[in-house]
Amino acid sequence: MTTSMKDVIALSKRRGFIFQSSEIYGGLNGFWDYGPLGVELKRNLKNAWWRDMVSSHNELVCAEGAPQEFAMTGIDASIVMHPQVWKCSGHYDLFFDYMVDCRESKKRYRHDQVRGRWVEAKGRRIFVTTVAEADDEAEAVLRRALKFFNVRASHAEELKWIGGFQSLADAGDPASVLGPDASEVGTLTEPREFNLMFKTNVGALSADDNTAYLRPETAQGIFVNFKNVLNSLRIRIPFGIAQIGKSFRNEITPRNYTFRSREFEQMEIEFFCHPGESEMWYRYWRDRRVQWYRDLGLSSGKLRLREHAREELSHYSNGTADIEYAFPFLPEGEFGELEGIAHRGDFDLRSHMEGKLAPGTRPLQLEVDEHGKPKYRGSGKDLSYRDEITGEKFIPHVIEPSAGADRAALAFLCDAFHQDQAPDDSGKMEPRIVLRLHPRLAPVKAAILPLVKKGGMPEIARKIYAALKKQCNVFYDEKDSIGRRYRRQDEIGTPYCITIDSDTLSDGTVTLRDRDSLQQRRIPVERCDEELQRLLT
Ligand code: GAP
Repeated sequence: MTTSMKDVIALSKRRGFIFQSSEIYGGLNGFWDYGPLGVELKRNLKNAWWRDMVSSHNELVCAEGAPQEFAMTGIDASIVMHPQVWKCSGHYDLFFDYMVDCRESKKRYRHDQVRGRWVEAKGRRIFVTTVAEADDEAEAVLRRALKFFNVRASHAEELKWIGGFQSLADAGDPASVLGPDASEVGTLTEPREFNLMFKTNVGALSADDNTAYLRPETAQGIFVNFKNVLNSLRIRIPFGIAQIGKSFRNEITPRNYTFRSREFEQMEIEFFCHPGESEMWYRYWRDRRVQWYRDLGLSSGKLRLREHAREELSHYSNGTADIEYAFPFLPEGEFGELEGIAHRGDFDLRSHMEGKLAPGTRPLQLEVDEHGKPKYRGSGKDLSYRDEITGEKFIPHVIEPSAGADRAALAFLCDAFHQDQAPDDSGKMEPRIVLRLHPRLAPVKAAILPLVKKGGMPEIARKIYAALKKQCNVFYDEKDSIGRRYRRQDEIGTPYCITIDSDTLSDGTVTLRDRDSLQQRRIPVERCDEELQRLLT
């Protein structure tokens, strides 16, 4: 059975993974809150990333597939940074999407998200548009065309559709376009640039000279701290600096649940290396990062690595690959970005030294104003690196694996969602929802369940619970029949259930139930801790 986004969203809300932000006030588009289980899932994901990329990395040996040994470290930079950072990074004048406004409905849309179809009826030909999700766009356009031409649904054959869906940009003839919420044609404006950075003011006064921005990426906090890290740790290149933190983008039309949010978390690494070795490191990080998702259980058939074509590359990039996942809200065969791995060359360090570089120049040149002066001045600080052993001085190249924690959490949630059959208390097979989350990601690692609320079983169960709780997030439940309790745990992805029954009282063993195989085996009470640790790693 294919996973539907509606089922995932319903489960998320019902069991406390994700809620709409400020829901009691009607919500705020593009903002989401993680509930009691969601916060555990997302934290487990971020911890897995930090542990696998940073804290468990052994810089003394050459990691599998790596060109040589390398070091990894981390920082936690502030969200609001000096405004000059964003001028030099290119975000101030290049970080925009195209929007169109509707003069009639006063609504604003992202230009590339408005799609539609040409249709003819009653001697008129118009382009009917919508911003509905892929699954709903055909119905939305039909409904709007019927209304526009005043045709009943039972006479839908009066509408003559010309060609399939196409983007607004490809439609041509703006005068014939029926905007997504308009009742007349020709109400959409020409596309205009819309900068995605959220503005704020530093200090009590609101004036142009204290305008600051909420960071749209965590990466710049790493670049501006490059020298600080280098000097404080005295590490040699190649090395990586990692950071996890919030980023903010004023997306014109946030959509697809948490996939495109206005506030989200990134997990980014800036890996600094010798320019002559950067291609090797680019390939290493690209392959290593895709393997990370596989190791945590994302289905291979839904995961792919896609190299960008030349014309798709960002202004700074010498090569980029996206790790993509076939999210259920996308049409069959389409994929959405989970993470980008970019070869950024020396763009960032040089921009923060010299001033903003001109996009498109090769090799990169300083962007100058009409007086020949730097358009945006850099820090003037020397961000080059001198190798103590070889004496060589150079500006390091950067490879950047940049992942989204919310997108990854959503992909793992969608991928884990399954509907199958499991026996109820009487052994009859009944449909069940099960989240097959990797044990490292599962919000609850084990449920401790006394079979009945008497006969000394709850007392033993509470002791086991107290001992395991010191190691990991376990859950105690004595309400309802055992079958219903298993079902509740399956639905939130708990990989193991430990049941205390009458045999426990006589032989000191408990049953350990596996969520996926449904197999149950007996283990001694005193081995619960050790066995769980073994299964969870
Ligand atoms: N420093 C490079 C950078 O920020 P990006 O492709 O714009 O690159 C990296 O963002 C990752 O951040 C994306 O692959 C995605 O996982 C996540 N991301 C970006 N915009 C997002 C949004 N509006 N909502 C949720 N996640 C987002």
